[in-house]
Amino acid sequence: MKQKILVTGGAGYIGSNTVAKLINQGFQVVIVDDLSTGFKELVHPDAIFYNAEIADTSLVSEIMKKENVSGVIHFAAKIVVPESITEPLKYYSNNTNGVISILNACKISNIQNFVFSSTAAVYGNAGADIISESTPTCPINPYGFSKLFSEQIVRDTELEFGLRSVVFRYFNVAGASRDLKFGQRTKTATHLIKIASEASLKKRDKMFITGTDYQTPDGTGIRDYIHVEDLSNAHVLAMKYLLDGGSSDLFNCGYGQGFSVREVVNCMKKVSGVNFEATEGPRRPGDAAKLIADSTHLKSKLNWKPELNDLEIICKTALDFERSLS
Ligand code: UFG
Repeated sequence: MKQKILVTGGAGYIGSNTVAKLINQGFQVVIVDDLSTGFKELVHPDAIFYNAEIADTSLVSEIMKKENVSGVIHFAAKIVVPESITEPLKYYSNNTNGVISILNACKISNIQNFVFSSTAAVYGNAGADIISESTPTCPINPYGFSKLFSEQIVRDTELEFGLRSVVFRYFNVAGASRDLKFGQRTKTATHLIKIASEASLKKRDKMFITGTDYQTPDGTGIRDYIHVEDLSNAHVLAMKYLLDGGSSDLFNCGYGQGFSVREVVNCMKKVSGVNFEATEGPRRPGDAAKLIADSTHLKSKLNWKPELNDLEIICKTALDFERSLS
């Protein structure tokens, strides 16, 4: 019989891509999503869907028991760094209280395999050229803190009821599935590659380069952009690892290569063939200068083999998905 995996936030961007990979790999999937930032259109047709809030511990545990779930992948969260600065309580409530609710549901339902989405934002301005899992954490915004606190809670829970976890610290996730079914749909984009896609398609008049005075070669922020399909594959590997009895672990997810904002903008101009306007503006509060992942551990322990480490493929899939929305 197929094993069932419960995916919170399965109607979201990374969640929907991961659901597709799980189903492809022979799992059954149960999605719990309240569609607050997710979309019905991103719910995989072969998944079982519950429109429910992760804060509703008793309902979620009922679903876990009824569906006989073997493991949980917890995506549902708020993810916008600037918003976390103006509305921190939303982030501590959704992200940190949210994980407590899901863990309580796991405890009630005796589920011990848990994959958790964390973020490179836990490193803040790490200072290191390449960031490994042992680089000290030092968040510089409430979003990063909300995820760091959640990581600790996930780890501590192991002693309480034997939960084994894989925690992923994502760097900058971008692009869309190559079949263009699953990508970023949000109407109020804040992520660079989505904004640049919208600018290419004239869905916005122009975009801003937020900060040109960072200590980086061209003065703009540097990030490690990872294609959402490669990241989703890592989640399937993690769940298989836990179901095989693997012990709790933590992994950075990125390609180990950084691109500046200017480089990303130029790449999007190249793949779209549109010379859209990118105006230089001030820094965004809470932004780090440079975040690049060392993913050696993910490759060696989970045998992760990234296939789409190419900024042009990332920009092109994001652009084509954006076009498919109009
Ligand atoms: N940027 C612009 N113009 C924009 C939007 C962004 O220049 O219109 C710049 C930002 O200043 C930053 C870079 O593009 O230098 C990337 O910004 P994003 O908003 O795309 O992503 P962030 O790095 O702020 O955050 C993302 C995720 C977080 C994660 C982080 C890890 O949203 O969850 O990557 O690197 F923690």
